[in-house]
Amino acid sequence: MRIDVVSIFPDYLAALDLSLIGKARQDGLLDVRVHDLRDHTHDRHRTVDDTPYGGGAGMVMKPQPWAEALGHVVAQGDPSTKPRLVVPGPGGQPFTQALARELAREPWLAFACGRYEGIDERVYEHAREDLGLEVSVVSLGDYVLNGGEVAVLAIVEAVGRLVPGVIGNAESLVEESHEDGLLEYPIYTKPRTWNGRDVPEVLLSGNHGAIAAWRHEQRLARTAARRPDLLHASHGDGDIEITAAT
Ligand code: ADE
Repeated sequence: MRIDVVSIFPDYLAALDLSLIGKARQDGLLDVRVHDLRDHTHDRHRTVDDTPYGGGAGMVMKPQPWAEALGHVVAQGDPSTKPRLVVPGPGGQPFTQALARELAREPWLAFACGRYEGIDERVYEHAREDLGLEVSVVSLGDYVLNGGEVAVLAIVEAVGRLVPGVIGNAESLVEESHEDGLLEYPIYTKPRTWNGRDVPEVLLSGNHGAIAAWRHEQRLARTAARRPDLLHASHGDGDIEITAAT
């Protein structure tokens, strides 16, 4: 998968050299290219922002550097392929495991990291109408970050690990929180007793059926306590007790 990231802080993306994503880049599974938006400015101060029309607080990212940067990214591919453009922002669609799976099927993703109050709206229109890109505005959650860079790190990590070959043990992808709408069960390792606390007896029993049942109950209880919205979303109202009893 090819991934382009445009930012005024390319150094933020240095973390993509580390760990599993860094290894996937070395192995040629992910081709990540980071671009400095300011390379597409033409004034002495390398200006990327200006005051908002209509008034209001803060600054808005100017359209010209963005149009040039996106044009530069698109021109690097062969003419028959185009990236899907992902713009992180608090006003976007929620980033979920389902969206991560969808993005992991794309051969090419481009990320535009906004700063300040955001990017001039005409850049989105230009990307869709003139460059012919599919544009998705994606939010990590209902809170405000200072810019898109941290969101890109999260999105690339969540998407990259779903690209075939990036995670050695593909089974570990299946048994995870959010893969089937429930949170993960509690996990333990050696020693059997630590600091006066024992590992739950059932996990030492060797009884695979009992272990699976206990884990399922734990997942339901944990999801009900921490994320009741997920139970309603995935099982429908009223199904919870039935599921818990089986
Ligand atoms: N940029 C600023 N806030 C954000 C959020 N909540 N999610 C994604 N990108 C953002």
